[in-house]
Amino acid sequence: MTSKPPGNTAPLAHRLRVLATGVSGRMGRQVVAAVRAAPDLELCGAVSRSFGGPTERGRDASVGSASALEAELRSAGVRTFSDLAEALGDLDPDVLVDFTSAEVAPGYLHSALSAGVPVVSGTTGLDETVLAGLRETAERMGLGAAIIPNFSLGAMVMAILARTAAPYFKAAEIVELHHDRKKDAPSGTALALARTVAASLGKQTPNEPESAAPLVAAGDERPPVREVKTAPTHAEARGLDVHGVPVHSVRLSGLVAHHELIFASDGETLTVRHDSVSRSSFMPGVLLAVRTVPRLTGLVTSLEELVNLARA
Ligand SMILES: NC(=O)c1ccc[n+]([C@@H]2O[C@H](COP(=O)([O-])OP(=O)(O)OC[C@H]3O[C@@H](n4cnc5c(N)ncnc54)[C@H](OP(=O)(O)O)[C@@H]3O)[C@@H](O)[C@H]2O)c1
Repeated sequence: MTSKPPGNTAPLAHRLRVLATGVSGRMGRQVVAAVRAAPDLELCGAVSRSFGGPTERGRDASVGSASALEAELRSAGVRTFSDLAEALGDLDPDVLVDFTSAEVAPGYLHSALSAGVPVVSGTTGLDETVLAGLRETAERMGLGAAIIPNFSLGAMVMAILARTAAPYFKAAEIVELHHDRKKDAPSGTALALARTVAASLGKQTPNEPESAAPLVAAGDERPPVREVKTAPTHAEARGLDVHGVPVHSVRLSGLVAHHELIFASDGETLTVRHDSVSRSSFMPGVLLAVRTVPRLTGLVTSLEELVNLARA
């Protein structure tokens, strides 16, 4: 990831025009509200599978009606689409913001980049091969792509604290807790934390092993839990080994996104915990990415790196 040369960093005179995908989802709705509330941004378009038809396609009743959302957006002058290609063809957005799923996000992000539109995505569960492909497309197109598994500034600080603390401890484990509709496990944040901690504990961090790839449940199913028919082995009960750091995933309704990192040495432990109790916690990071990514070329995958690039 690089900043563009000074000639390309002049502030844009107009409000940045944002196109959002997955807008009937939990995060998509937050993005719609946050972009509409930002004076320097304009939500020019919104894409949802559910737009243009009467059905809700199994939407969780707690997140409200997509048809009501579509009507509200239209009355506010926001163009609505069920098809991203159509939206990219009709609008000339400055940035695409995507919070969808690991199945559709790669296609959406490639389409936007290929159409000359920088992208911001918080969709998790994208594996290293997908990210490498998006990096290549972004670099080839000379565009920025911010694909960041956790946009919370608090979670970013947690990662910094983890890096600071890790050299002083012998071992660490991570417990990540999320709502029961989250499709991937472990969370992208937990994987990134495990990598950071493992490196600082002096362990080897070779290329991503199979065991550290996020597991994504198919369709709308919540990730399965292994049924124990015989006595479990010790290893089976000790979480997923990510570079030697056990990661334990909890999925329960009522939770949003929570990460607990426990360090241990002889006779002492240190616990660093972060709780996103509302999805609004992700929006300052998302808006920072929206404002920064048009000035960048290539892929950035951590909020800390993005914050540093925004300051540069
Ligand atoms: N980076 C972060 O800080 C952060 C924070 C929280 C969550 N996340 C991640 O953000 C993503 C979305 O989370 P969420 O809680 O908003 O999930 P959600 O409520 O299930 O919403 C996801 C939306 O994506 C769209 N979508 C899903 N499957 C699709 C498909 N096959 N084709 C087209 N569109 C599809 C749908 O929107 P439409 O019906 O409107 O198209 C759906 O409502 C997840 O990957 C989650 O882990 C990231």
